[in-house]
Order: sequence, then C-alpha cells, then structure tokens
Amino acid sequence: MNNKFSVNDCCVVELPIVHNESGNISVLENHQNIPFDIKRIYYLYDVPMGAERGGHGHYGLQQYVVAASGSFTFVLDDGKNKKEVFLNHPNKALHIKPGIWREMKDFSSGSVCLVLASMEYTESDYMRDYQEFLNFRNG
Ligand code: TYD
Repeated sequence: MNNKFSVNDCCVVELPIVHNESGNISVLENHQNIPFDIKRIYYLYDVPMGAERGGHGHYGLQQYVVAASGSFTFVLDDGKNKKEVFLNHPNKALHIKPGIWREMKDFSSGSVCLVLASMEYTESDYMRDYQEFLNFRNG
C-alpha cells in the first residue's frame, strides 16, 4: 500500500525488440525487465467506440500496460496532478505505480490493451470512489 507515488513516477518504458524480416517479438520477463512479479495477465478488447473505462485507483496493485494492438489513452491522476499517456505501439509499456487513479479513453477500433499485473484480482484492492481515493492520497 503506497500513497506517495506521483503521476511523474508512472513512465513509459521502451521494450526490447527482437527483429527480423518476418516480424518482431517483444519480451517481458519476471526479474529481467519487469520490476515486479507478474501474478495476472488480462486484456481489454472489443471496446466499443467512444467507451471510457477505468475510474478507479488501487491500494497496492502495479501494472504494465501495453497497446498490443491499436491505440488508446490513459489519464493518470495522483490527486494533485493529471497526466495523459497515449499508447500506440506494442514495444512500449506504461508502468502504473500503486495509488494512482486512472481513466481510459479513445480506444481505436480493434485495439487490445494488454495488462500485466503485480497482484491477483481482488476487489478489496480497488478504490472506486474518487473521494475515498483522495482520502487515501491525503491520509
Ligand atoms: P475493471 O478493473 O473495473 O475494468 P476497467 O478498469 O478496465 O474498466 O473491471 C471490470 C469488471 O471486470 C469488474 O466487475 C471486475 C472484473 N474483473 C475481474 O473479474 N478480474 C480481473 O482481473 C479484472 C481486471 C476485472
């Protein structure tokens, strides 16, 4: 649980590309180039045009987010500052630290948002109420 990270601590990391003429591979590997143990992988797809997702923070969860296909925008919020991050290439990962509110928007048609998560799913790690989030940030 950490309420100290700011939106500036949430950076886009460039992933290595294994390139050859028949295509590319990018790899994320525990203890090699990801700063937490991956406990869960999930992906968002078939997001209808104009849909907005997110609208929550997490007490302990950190994530790496990759635009596996297409593009979308994450809006990060630490209770004081906001930052928009546009992801549009599979060799870039956004590291979302714990204690950050996020919204997602502008999903392109056919986009796939791949998320590598540091914790198994548990609803008790979510802050879905913005005032609860602000109380946590200011606590
Ligand atoms: P949520 O994390 O709110 O989605 P998003 O941030 O992409 O808008 O999750 C939406 C629903 O899916 C919610 O009812 C919880 C469920 N869910 C799971 O059951 N397991 C998971 O790993 C995730 C991420 C969500």
